[in-house]
Amino acid sequence: VVRGFSSSALRPAVIKHVMIIGGGQMGAGIAQVAASTGHSVTLVDTSEEILNKSVKGIEGSLKRVVKKKFADKPEAGAEFIHKVLQSLSTSTHAESVIQSSDLVVEAIVENLKVKQEIFGRLDKLAPQHTIFASNTSSLPIADIASSTSRLDRFGGLHFFNPVPMMKLVEVIATPATSQETFDSLLNFSKVLGKTPVSCKDTPGFIVNRLLVPYMLEAVRLYERGHGSKEDIDIAMKLGAGYPMGPFELSDYVGLDTIKFIIDGWCEKDPGNPLFKSSEMLNKLVSEGKLGRKSGEGFYKYK
Ligand code: NAI
Repeated sequence: VVRGFSSSALRPAVIKHVMIIGGGQMGAGIAQVAASTGHSVTLVDTSEEILNKSVKGIEGSLKRVVKKKFADKPEAGAEFIHKVLQSLSTSTHAESVIQSSDLVVEAIVENLKVKQEIFGRLDKLAPQHTIFASNTSSLPIADIASSTSRLDRFGGLHFFNPVPMMKLVEVIATPATSQETFDSLLNFSKVLGKTPVSCKDTPGFIVNRLLVPYMLEAVRLYERGHGSKEDIDIAMKLGAGYPMGPFELSDYVGLDTIKFIIDGWCEKDPGNPLFKSSEMLNKLVSEGKLGRKSGEGFYKYK
């Protein structure tokens, strides 16, 4: 205990009301998990149409959860879904929800300017205690936070796709993030049923910093003709125990996403050989072969 401070001043704030901005793949998943763990959640996106789709997606995902979790108690399962959906509301107007938000989690397009604009606007309206967090995969948290005046109440909460299944959350502190804020974010992640790890605000945090250069090195190995895609995938699955090989994983993540991440890092640190792009990757992306989502990447999909 620090002398002169009451213990309550040092206790991390309890997070009850959560606003999630962006109802896409990640935002909808985060909203589902937060609403399933006793939070009241407002999901924000740009149109009613998108939000309706997000909620439909959440309902479908909850049904799958319930099928497993309440296998022999269908009534309790239906009751659970009802309760979760009751804790979830939607809005196209973040400004009218911010007053009652303890935490804002942003999961919109990976664009610094757009993220800064939203946070800058909400910062002026948000209560003093409200914590802001971004789910960005590749942008520095400090750059996003710089559009606000709450640098001590700003951090990163990096979830993994699909959010309801993946246990990890990377909790990111910038040099300005306060210990109280960081503890609140760690605690929030635990309440969601996730396992948090502590990260610094460095490119790719932990997981992507290791995974993206690994996927690119697999592509280079293939480009050099040192192994077929199929053999490299088999090798990493059976030899390293990975659930997917690097080419399968790249197609799953999206080749455009990988290119976007590596190009961003390369721009900041051009001399780093780990951040070097690959001609093959660039060519596939320019041909619209983006992986599973486009029907073809390194492999073809039906
Ligand atoms: P997405 O494209 O599925 O969803 C983004 C959503 O944000 C869309 O519904 C869009 O309408 C909405 N949006 C855009 N601008 C908005 C605005 N100004 N106000 C409100 N809503 C707005 O994208 P996804 O994949 O969910 O990614 C979101 C964020 O999460 C990105 O920063 C990404 O880097 C990060 N991320 C993505 C992961 C993934 O595997 N897809 C994993 C971890 C983080």
